Amino acid sequence: MRKPIIAGNWKMYKTMQEATSFMEELTGKLDRSVQADVVICPPAPYLAVLVEKSEGTPVQIGAQTMHEEDEGAFTGEVSPRMLQSIGVGLVILGHSERRQYYNETDESVNRKVKAAFAHELTPIVCVGETLEQREAEQTAEIVGSQVKKAFDGISEEDAKRAVVAYEPVWAIGTGRTATASDANEVCAHIRSVLKDLYLDETAQAVRIQYGGSVKPANIGELLAESDIDGALVGGASLDPDSFAALAEAGSHE
Ligand code: 13P
Repeated sequence: MRKPIIAGNWKMYKTMQEATSFMEELTGKLDRSVQADVVICPPAPYLAVLVEKSEGTPVQIGAQTMHEEDEGAFTGEVSPRMLQSIGVGLVILGHSERRQYYNETDESVNRKVKAAFAHELTPIVCVGETLEQREAEQTAEIVGSQVKKAFDGISEEDAKRAVVAYEPVWAIGTGRTATASDANEVCAHIRSVLKDLYLDETAQAVRIQYGGSVKPANIGELLAESDIDGALVGGASLDPDSFAALAEAGSHE
C-alpha cells in the first residue's frame, strides 16, 4: 500500500507574512492523524522559517528546485547541501516551468535527482507532455523517455524513495484537468517504465502524483485510480481551506 502524498507547489506566490499565516491556519485545520504525506513547497526565502514552523505538525517542507552542485560560483542558486542543512526533506525537480523558462533538460534533471539522493532529499520528479505532443499521440513516448532519463544511474534503493509527478503541461493552471482515467493511464505507463528499469517491488513502491488543475472537487476521483498516489497542486494549494481539504482527501483513500 503506497502512502498518498499531497504536495502544494506555491510557485512564485505569497509574502513571508502570508506564508507564515498560511502555515498557522493549515496546521490548525489539519487533523493530526492525517494519513497522507502533506508537503508545502514555498519560495526559497521562506524555507527555513517554514521548516521551523512545521516542526511537530504533519506538514513537511519541500523546495521547488535546486542546483545540482554542492557549492560554487553559481550566483542566485540554492544547493542540495544548503537545503539539507536547513532540514528541507523534499525537492521538486524538472517542473515544466523550469524546463520551459530555465533550460532544464532531462540530463540536468538526472544530475539533480542524483544530487538530491546524495543529500537525503526526496525528489519529486516532474514529467509531462505538451498539448502538441498529446495531439500527436506522443504522450507515452515523451513521458517514458523523461522517466528513463531522470532515473538513469539511480540505484534500486534510492528509486524506491522517489516520487514522480505526472503533470501534463496543457493542464497546468488552465483549469483543464486530464480525466481521471486518462491521467491513470499515463501514471500506469510510468510505473511500467519503472518496471523495465527496476524490480517489480521497486516500481510498486514509487509514488506517482498527478498534477494539473487539481482541486478539492476533482481530487477524489483522481486518487481513486489504481496508479495515482497523490497530487502536486499549484493554484489550489495557495488557500489553507482548499489545501487542507486536499490533504484530508488524501487521507481517506
Ligand atoms: P495548477 O494546480 O495551478 O494547475 O498547477 C499545477 C502545477 O504546476 C503544480 O506543480
